[in-house]
Amino acid sequence: MREYLTYDDIQILPKYSDINHRSSCDTVTRLTKNYKLDIPIVSSPMDTITEYDMAYEMSRLGGMGIIHRFMSIEDQSKIVDELNTHMVGAAIGITGDFIERAQELNNVGVPIICIDVAHGHHKLVKEAMRRLKNEVKGSFDVLVGNIATAEAARDLCEWGADGLRIGIGGGSLCSTRIQTGVGVPMVSSILDCTGIADDYDVPCMADGGIRSVGDVCKGLACGADTIMLGSLLSGTKETPGIITKQGQWPNEVLQKKYRGSASLESKSDRGETKNVEGYSTTILYKGKVKRIISDIIDGLRSSMSYVGAKDISEYQINSEKIKITNAGIIEAKPHLL
Ligand code: XMP
Repeated sequence: MREYLTYDDIQILPKYSDINHRSSCDTVTRLTKNYKLDIPIVSSPMDTITEYDMAYEMSRLGGMGIIHRFMSIEDQSKIVDELNTHMVGAAIGITGDFIERAQELNNVGVPIICIDVAHGHHKLVKEAMRRLKNEVKGSFDVLVGNIATAEAARDLCEWGADGLRIGIGGGSLCSTRIQTGVGVPMVSSILDCTGIADDYDVPCMADGGIRSVGDVCKGLACGADTIMLGSLLSGTKETPGIITKQGQWPNEVLQKKYRGSASLESKSDRGETKNVEGYSTTILYKGKVKRIISDIIDGLRSSMSYVGAKDISEYQINSEKIKITNAGIIEAKPHLL
């Protein structure tokens, strides 16, 4: 059996660098065939992550938010319309009224439509992509996922994807691997999919399992062009939902909800109770998302300077990944205590 690796299993080798200052490193990247972002960060189409406020702020900071699809077509297209930015995405499914949803989103000028399903390597996705391209004429690009294998990447590129979303079973609230035994550790998944997508000139997004800025860097170093975030952005001011207070002053804590799209709580809101493959939790309130994005970009620029890369494509080429042992994993974490 082949060995599959994830973020903790690897590190990036430092390289000779002629970068004078890390602030000069350019973080512009490709999101899809026809669209670029100033920073390689995208917020997840989850109902506790991306609605108007998150999408607005992500776009203002140079990234992008994808408006989730667990709302009416009218509400989703109204958000896209009101945002009135060039960079925002909107998620659709592959059954029911997905074509009407795509049509409305296209009518309000959405640049990115994201086919958002748990198993992207599926004949219904192929059919949805065919119908989308034939029945909804517009200038949007189609980002499709999620997938985790080279075969899936090849098929989706052949079916006309403008961007791929990679990651099955790695999300922080994901129980897919526990419920089904199916999933692929993120690093191998990214390497396999980007290896194929490069041949088709289709950009890739790594989605799920990012726990630190270092993981963002590793995802890009493995060939992803953008990184999708859920948990790292959860609990921020811009996420949908209310702030709740636990305990009494002076010991009170402020919290917000973060829930998997396939969690029982999220599914019950949509009148479903079967095939639960996710959890829900509360997160300590984190304040503005701007601070988190700024930390990520600072860390990424520093990483780029460590490998002597002035832009993201040089970073992907220059980054040599090494597999580390368990002792290396322990050494990589604070270990004084
Ligand atoms: P992080 O690790 O950033 O992951 O929190 C966010 C990604 O997790 C995926 N997601 C799910 N996966 N069951 C799953 O198996 C779920 O209920 C679920 N909800 C979200 C999704 O790809 C998201 O971007």
